[in-house]
Amino acid sequence: MRNLIQPALILLSVLMSTTGTDEVIYAQVNDMVTLEPPKTYSPTEHYLYWSFGGLELAWRNPIGGSGLNADILIWSGNSLIITKIPQGQFGTFTCTLGRDKIEKNCKLLRLQVSMNQTSPLLPGDRVSLTCDAEKPHSLKSPQIHWLNPQGVRIFGYQQTVTATGLHNGEWTCVVTNDNKEKRAKIKVTVVDLSPAPTSPLYTSKSQPLTIPCSIPSGISWEQVKAKGVQGVHWDYFPNTGLSHISGDPQRLFSLSLNDTLRWQPDRSRGLTPVSSLIKGNLSLFINKAKEEDRGDYVCTMKFRNGVTLKRTVQVNVLQIISSPETDLISGQQLNLTCSLGRLLSSDLQLKLIPPEQSALQLLTSDREPALLNIPEVGTGDSGKWRCELWQRSARLTYAVIALKIEPKLSVWMLIIICSVTVIVLLLLVLVFILCHRRQVQLNHPYSYVLDHTGWH
Ligand SMILES: *[C@@H]1O[C@H](CO)[C@@H](O)[C@H](O)[C@H]1NC(C)=O
Ligand SMILES: *[C@@H]1O[C@H](CO)[C@@H](O)[C@H](O)[C@H]1NC(C)=O
Ligand SMILES: *[C@@H]1O[C@H](CO)[C@@H](O)[C@H](O)[C@H]1NC(C)=O
Ligand SMILES: *[C@@H]1O[C@H](CO)[C@@H](O)[C@H](O)[C@H]1NC(C)=O
Repeated sequence: MRNLIQPALILLSVLMSTTGTDEVIYAQVNDMVTLEPPKTYSPTEHYLYWSFGGLELAWRNPIGGSGLNADILIWSGNSLIITKIPQGQFGTFTCTLGRDKIEKNCKLLRLQVSMNQTSPLLPGDRVSLTCDAEKPHSLKSPQIHWLNPQGVRIFGYQQTVTATGLHNGEWTCVVTNDNKEKRAKIKVTVVDLSPAPTSPLYTSKSQPLTIPCSIPSGISWEQVKAKGVQGVHWDYFPNTGLSHISGDPQRLFSLSLNDTLRWQPDRSRGLTPVSSLIKGNLSLFINKAKEEDRGDYVCTMKFRNGVTLKRTVQVNVLQIISSPETDLISGQQLNLTCSLGRLLSSDLQLKLIPPEQSALQLLTSDREPALLNIPEVGTGDSGKWRCELWQRSARLTYAVIALKIEPKLSVWMLIIICSVTVIVLLLLVLVFILCHRRQVQLNHPYSYVLDHTGWH
C-alpha cells in the first residue's frame, strides 16, 4: 500500500466518507486489521471492490477471480486483511458491490499508547501513560480504561503513577466502542529490588538458608548502570531480638560495578553470594548459621540521583545446646536447651524430639527457650536429638544435636575387674619368686649340693 494516497483523490475520499460509517475499527500502527465484507455480499453473485482514498485496493469477481494492489494485503476467505497497517493509512476503507454502489465504510482509527519517560524507570519517577484513541467524528467517544499489570481496572485515558516495582509489567489500554473491545499494551519496566520476605526467615546449623534479594528478571545490569547506579551492598545488623543487645552494623559485601561484575567481601562472616549475580540475583547463602548470625541483613542499591532501594531480611537462628556437654556417662544430669533467641509469637512452637530408642517423651513448648532437664541420662538417650520450630502445621526449621552416652561401670563390674587384677598380680609375684630361686641354684651349684645332701 505504498504511495496509495494520491492528492487528487483525497477530495473524493472525503466525499465518500460522508456517506456514513458502518464499522469503526481501532488499531495500533503495525497491527493486523481485518476488513469484513458487507452482510449483503454473495461471493457467487457480486463483484467486490475495496478502496481507500478513492484508490482501488482489492477486488473479487463472482467466478472466483481476485486481485490485490498492495503487498501488505491478503485475502482470508471473503475478508481482506491488512497484515501491518502503516502510520499514514488510517482512515475510511470503502467496500462496493458492483462498480459504484457503496455498501460499507470501515473507519480505521488510530489507537496509540505511550509513556512520557523512557523505560526502565526508577522507583519514585513520575510517569504518565496515555491511551490516545482517535474519535469517530459523527459518533460518540469510545470508552477507555486501563488494566494495570495486576489486571486491576482503572478508569481514564491517562494514568499518572509514581513508579514502584508493582508497576513493572504490561499495562493494557482497553477501548470499547459499539460493544467491540480493542486492547493495546505497553510495557513498563522499573528497576527495583524484589520485595523482601514478609515474615522472618529461619535457619540453623542443620539447615542452610538463602537470604534473597534480586533485580527484576527482565532488567540487565547495563540498564541498571545506565540509570546511574552508584553502589550495591549487603550490611548486617546484629540483633538478638530479646532486647537492647544490638551491635554495630557491619558491611558484608560491596558490588564492584567495574567491567567485571563481582562481589567484594568486606567482612563476609561465612556468607557466600549465590552464583547467578550476572542474572541479577544478589542473594546471599548462609550455611551452618550460629547464634551470632541472628539479625537483620540489608540489601541496598544506591543511585546517583539520590534514590536508595533497601530490602531488610530478618534471619532467626534456631539452636540446640547440651549442658554440660555432648559426651556423657549414663547417670549424669543433662540439660537440653532449644532456643530461637527471641520471644515466640503466639503461632510458634518449639518441639524437642528424643531419639527413637529413648524412653523420654517429646517436649513441646510455647515459650522460649524449650528446656529439657534430664536428672539421669541413660544409654538409650544416645543419638540425634532434634529441635523443631513449628508455625501452626508447618515446620519452619530444625536443629540437630548428637549425644554420646557411655554406660556407667557397675559395682559388680568393679569387683570383677579388681579381683582379676589382684589374681594377675599374685600370679606375677609367684612366677617371679620361682624364677629367682631357680637362678640362685644355677649360680651356686655347691650350695645346691650342700642343700641336697642336707636333705638326704
Ligand atoms: C511525565 O508526566 C508526569 C505527570 O504529568 C510528570 O510529573 C513528569 O515530569 C513527566 N515526565 C517527563 C519526562 O516529562
Ligand atoms: C573499580 O572502581 C572503583 C571505584 O570506581 C575503584 O576504586 C576500583 O579500584 C576499581 N577496581 C578495578 C578492579 O578496576
Ligand atoms: C537466586 O539464587 C538462589 C540460589 O541459587 C535461588 O534459590 C533463588 O531462587 C534465586 N532467585 C532468583 C530471583 O532467581
Ligand atoms: C540444669 O538446669 C538446672 C535448672 O535450670 C540447673 O540447676 C542445673 O545446674 C543445670 N545442670 C547442668 C548440668 O547444666
